[in-house]
Amino acid sequence: MIEKLQELNKKKEAAKIGGGYKRIESQHKKGKLTARERIELLLDAGSFEEIGMFVTHRSTNFGLENQKYLGDGVVTGYGTVNGRLIYVYSQDFTVFGGSLSETHAEKICKLMDLALKNGAPVVGLNDSGGARIQEGVVSLGGYADIFYRNTKASGVIPQVSLIMGPCAGGAVYSPAITDFIFMVENTSYMFVTGPNVVKTVTHEEVTSEDLGGASAHSSKSGVTHFSCANEVQCIEDFKKLLSYIPQNCEEDAPNKNYEPKATETRKELLEIIPENPNQPYDIREVIDGISDTNSFFEVHKNFAENIVVGFTRIAGRSIGVVANQPAYLAGVLDINSSRKAARFVRFCNAFNIPLLVLVDVPGFLPGTDQEWNGIITNGAKLLYAFSEATVPKITVITRKAYGGAYDVMNSKHIGADLNYAWPSAEIAVMGAKGAAEIIFKKEIKQADKPEDKLNEKIKEYEGKFANPYRAAERGFIDEVIDPSETRTKLIKGFKMLENKVDSMPRKKHGNIPL
Ligand code: HXC
Repeated sequence: MIEKLQELNKKKEAAKIGGGYKRIESQHKKGKLTARERIELLLDAGSFEEIGMFVTHRSTNFGLENQKYLGDGVVTGYGTVNGRLIYVYSQDFTVFGGSLSETHAEKICKLMDLALKNGAPVVGLNDSGGARIQEGVVSLGGYADIFYRNTKASGVIPQVSLIMGPCAGGAVYSPAITDFIFMVENTSYMFVTGPNVVKTVTHEEVTSEDLGGASAHSSKSGVTHFSCANEVQCIEDFKKLLSYIPQNCEEDAPNKNYEPKATETRKELLEIIPENPNQPYDIREVIDGISDTNSFFEVHKNFAENIVVGFTRIAGRSIGVVANQPAYLAGVLDINSSRKAARFVRFCNAFNIPLLVLVDVPGFLPGTDQEWNGIITNGAKLLYAFSEATVPKITVITRKAYGGAYDVMNSKHIGADLNYAWPSAEIAVMGAKGAAEIIFKKEIKQADKPEDKLNEKIKEYEGKFANPYRAAERGFIDEVIDPSETRTKLIKGFKMLENKVDSMPRKKHGNIPL
C-alpha cells in the first residue's frame, strides 16, 4: 500500500504543477496568479475538494498524444466561501494556454451538473486561449455543451464569471450567459474577434486592452459588471457579491444580524434635494442614507451612470436597489440604462431579492440616436422586468416622475407593493415648462407679454401637478412621507412583505422584448 500511496502522491504533485514551473513563472511575470493560487484565495482554507484531477485529453492530433498534463488545463471542484458551498472551475493557462479540449469541457460540465442538482452557485475563473486548436470540432462541441448548461442553470443557481486572462472567440458566450462578469484591469480581455481580425476586416488599429479590456467592457459595452484593479481585489469583490445572494432560486439571500436601534430616523435625508428642481444631486447619498452603514455594493458602476443599481442591506436584509441618478444626464432613461436596470431586476426577481426603486426621472432621452437604436424595445425591457417581478417591490419617488418613465419605474400600476413619495415629488406627464408651452400655446402667443404669460402658466401647472398629492389622491402613492422617516418605512415595509406570495400566469416563458 505504501508504494501505491507514493504513486498516488506523485501523480497529485504532477497535477498540481500543471504545465510546469517555467510556465508558472511566466504566468507570475505577467502579474497573474495560477489556477490553484486563485482557488486558494477564493475558498475557505482547507475546504477545496478537487474533482477530476487526473483527467487527460484523448487527442492524438499533431503529436498531442505525447503532451499530456494531469487535469488537462482546468482545475474543478467544490468548497466553501464563508461557510457556504460553491462550485468552482479555474482554467490553467500553463497547460496549452488554458485552451478548452473535449475533456476540459467535460470536467466543467460535470461540475455544472453537480451544482445544478445540489443548488449552489458556480463560479468560473477564466484564463484561456479558447478552443484547443489541435482538437477541432470536438472542442467547439465542448463549448456548446457548456453554453447549454449555462442556459439551463440560468435563474436556478447563481452563475458568475471572473475573467483573469484571455477570453476570446465563442468562448465569451459562457460568461455572457452567466449572471455577473468580473474583469481584471490590464491582464484580462474579452472579444469575439481580436485586434488582428479587426484590422483585416475594418482596418481599425486597436490594442487588446482598448478593444476588450476591463475598462472598455465596464464603461462602453457594459459586458462586464465589475472592473477590478487586480486578481486579489477581484476575488474579494466576488465574495462580497456572494454575501448578498442566495444559494439558489428556492432560497432567500442570507440575512445579516441586525440590532434594532431606538430610532431609525435619518435627518441627513432632509438635506439632499436641492431647492432648485433642476439642480443635480447624487442619488447614492439617498441610498446610503436609508441603508445599513456602508452596506451598498454597486453593480455596473461605470456603465450607463444615469441609473444606479446594486445590492444593499436594510435592517440586515439583502435588497436590490434601482435608482435614477440625477447627477448624470439628469437621471434620464435611455437604451443603456434601461438594459442595465432590466437585467438587474430580473436577477433579483429570479433569486428572491426584494426590490427598492428610487425615482427621480425626467423621462426618456429624445433623439435620433436613441430612436434608431431602439429605445422603444429597450425601454420596454425595463417595463417588462418590473412588471413580471413578483418579489416584494417598494418605490420611493424623491423628485421627478415624469411621463412614461413614471409608469416604468415600478409604479403602482405595474405591481409595486408600496409606493412612497417625498413632499418634493413632482408626478406629472412632463415638466411644467414643456406642459405650459403645449397646452397654453395660443394664449401665450396672443398675450401682450408672452414671456410673462408663459411664466404664469408654468406656475399654474406646477401648482397643480408639481407635487405628489394628485397621485396620492388616486392611491397611486400610498403615503407622502417625511424623507427622514424613509428608512423606518422601508424597514417596516420589507418586513410586512417578507412572506409575499405572487406569481405570473402559467406559461412556458414570457417573451421579453430583446
Ligand atoms: C492550443 C494554445 C492555444 C489554443 C494558446 N496555446 N492558445 N494551445 N489551443 N487555442 C498554447 C500556446 O501554444 C503556448 O504553448 C501556450 O498556450 C501559451 O501561449 P502563448 O501564445 O505563448 O501565450 P501568450 O503570448 O500569452 O498569448 C496568449 C494568446 C495566444 C493571446 C491566447 O496564445 C493566442 O492567440 N492563442 C490562440 C487564440 C485563438 O485563436 N484561439 C482560438 C480562438 S477560436 P506552449 O507549449 O508554448 O506553452 C475559439 C472558438 C471558440 O476559441 C468557439 C466556441 C463556440
